[in-house]
Amino acid sequence: MEFKRHLVTAALPYANGPVHIGHLAGCYLPADIYVRYLRAQKRDVKFVCGSDEHGVPITIRAMKEGITPQDVVDKYNAIIRDSFADMGISFDIYSRTSNKTHHETAQAFFRKLYDNGVFEERESEQYYDAEKNTFLADRYIIGTCPVCSNENAYGDQCEKCGSTLSPEQLINPRSALSSAPLVKKKTKHWYFPLDKYEPWLKEWISEGKKDQWKPNVYGQCKSWLDSGLQPRAMTRDSNWGVPVPIEGADGKVLYVWFDAPIGYISATKELTTQWADYWCQEDTKLVHFIGKDNIVFHCIIFPSMLKAHGGFVLPDNVPANEFLNIEGQKVSTSRNWAVWVDEYLKDFPGQQDVLRYVLCANAPESKDNDFTWKDFQDRTNNELVSVFGNFVNRAFVLMHKLCGGRVPALHTDVMDDADRALIAEISNTKNSIEQCLENYRFRDGLFEVIDLARKANKYMQDKEPWIVAKAVAAEPEKQKLIDNCLHLCLQLTANLAILANPFLPHTAQKMCYMMKVVDRMLEWENAGRTDLLKVSYPLRAPELLFRKVEDAEVAAQVEKLHNNLKKATTPVMDNNTTPQQEAPATEAENPQYQPQKPEITIDDFMKIDLRVATIVKAQKVEKADKLLQLELDLGYETRTVLSGIAMHFKPEDIVGKQVTVVANLAPRKMRGIESKGMILMAQNADGGLVFAAPVVPADNGGEVR
Ligand code: 2FM
Ligand code: ZN
Repeated sequence: MEFKRHLVTAALPYANGPVHIGHLAGCYLPADIYVRYLRAQKRDVKFVCGSDEHGVPITIRAMKEGITPQDVVDKYNAIIRDSFADMGISFDIYSRTSNKTHHETAQAFFRKLYDNGVFEERESEQYYDAEKNTFLADRYIIGTCPVCSNENAYGDQCEKCGSTLSPEQLINPRSALSSAPLVKKKTKHWYFPLDKYEPWLKEWISEGKKDQWKPNVYGQCKSWLDSGLQPRAMTRDSNWGVPVPIEGADGKVLYVWFDAPIGYISATKELTTQWADYWCQEDTKLVHFIGKDNIVFHCIIFPSMLKAHGGFVLPDNVPANEFLNIEGQKVSTSRNWAVWVDEYLKDFPGQQDVLRYVLCANAPESKDNDFTWKDFQDRTNNELVSVFGNFVNRAFVLMHKLCGGRVPALHTDVMDDADRALIAEISNTKNSIEQCLENYRFRDGLFEVIDLARKANKYMQDKEPWIVAKAVAAEPEKQKLIDNCLHLCLQLTANLAILANPFLPHTAQKMCYMMKVVDRMLEWENAGRTDLLKVSYPLRAPELLFRKVEDAEVAAQVEKLHNNLKKATTPVMDNNTTPQQEAPATEAENPQYQPQKPEITIDDFMKIDLRVATIVKAQKVEKADKLLQLELDLGYETRTVLSGIAMHFKPEDIVGKQVTVVANLAPRKMRGIESKGMILMAQNADGGLVFAAPVVPADNGGEVR
């Protein structure tokens, strides 16, 4: 279908904390790159977002900070909004779900489904705090964990042993809000019959989206659909949220996952009177950018709601990303293991594009990825500074030195194959980036940009205009060669600005300033042209586009992370973890314990052949940051084992160490190398690893029992 307009949404972040770089990498940055690209193509696009200001995450934060939910959302909405603006996330509107328009829109939506008889009314018994006169969400019920006897387990999860619980499983359940004994009370809620939409969803997704949606997104949807959908309550007993707009629903609000996605519609309404064109015309391409924890809501629940309502377009695509870990550990907002965007901007003023670059280059597009400050430094110094920045700087410096500060002419009579190849590279790169961005492959798109700069550097290096310049006095004709080289390098610089603009908008602006061109030059259709800068046009002196990141800055950031790491005793809902309001926050007290696995018999255990071995050789595996290839002496044989410990140990430091090996594990090939077995490691609370090995030297090959 030929789409006339695009409506791009980015998940509404909960206004219960600042945003961290995982949020940026997962959703906001790819969405912004996509939108900037569409705008550069002069396509009709609206980019909407806003704060998600309802639900349990907000009330929990309010309780924790001892302020009202309204104070919470006012405080964090401002912080989040400013961080996005500073990072150049160019929403057309950043709204709030506490706005009047949103309340009205969400209520009208609910009302329509209600009037159409879509909902099923169901009565159930739920825990009630008689002193506070309120029903309690699972998270607000505390009791003794039936698994590990922790007396402060939550009604949804025990943070000590990690078990997933329901309030009924808690021993001596009590309210988190008061000391009143809990009572059960009948309550009525309105359920959306997702089960009835299952056949339609199966057809829409399995047939329509299989080859279009990313495998991680399609896979998650398929597994939800395969396991069968259940009706889901769309209302909650709470005083914080959008009131349920029907008689007899006092003290009830819309389920936050009912109202939040409608926030996309309300925000569009606030943005433009033409909002209905974007939401109701078949030729709108609706794209939801989200993190992987939001997939079910955007691919299954919200589309079913839209279908039940009628008259709205459905998402064409939902390019969800996976999660970004920090220095090898999962982001945890309550333990403060995160790189906060507002703090980054204070620590690295003016360095927005560097972060955009690193997060895009490392985007968790198909699997969880890791952000490390070392990688931040390496990518900045080795790619942005040494390749991109260096090329642009050299082109400008040489133009000033060898061509009088003006764009030199292109002398076609002396053009050679290298010149023609460079011109071809420019338009090839444009086409490749288009392919990447149209298909939500932002990393690959960015690599194309940097690759063009790399090729340009090589071209300049091969042409050596600074050497040719020495011969010009004797052979004035040679000036033509210099002119051609710098003419093309400058035209390529202009192209780099256009192609980099969606990814690095601040840099593209700086380049426009240096080239003395107006923003219009950045329009996408100009990419591929080699007449963007007029011959004889005087250009400004170069500015450094990027600066090096120093070792001390990396060390300071790593130290800051560790210093900030809280030994959380009262975990609150993480704003990067599952957004299902009643689902557990995957947080644990310090030290963090993984949930214990299901019981096994001694016979199960005896099947595992554990042996002592010594590492006799260790080396890195090419193109696999995490893997080390180990040669292990098991006494009776030497064998190769691959282990994912490269981020934790240097090969030279572990040779000679004894380890415990699962010796009878089925061999597995990784990166073309067969790994025969697995070494055992123990993990500390801070994510550090230690070898699980005999405390005193033992004989290689000895059984561990
Ligand atoms: O996971 C979250 O942060 C949710 N607040 C996302 C909501 S997206 C949309 F539905 F509004
Ligand atoms: Zn427990």
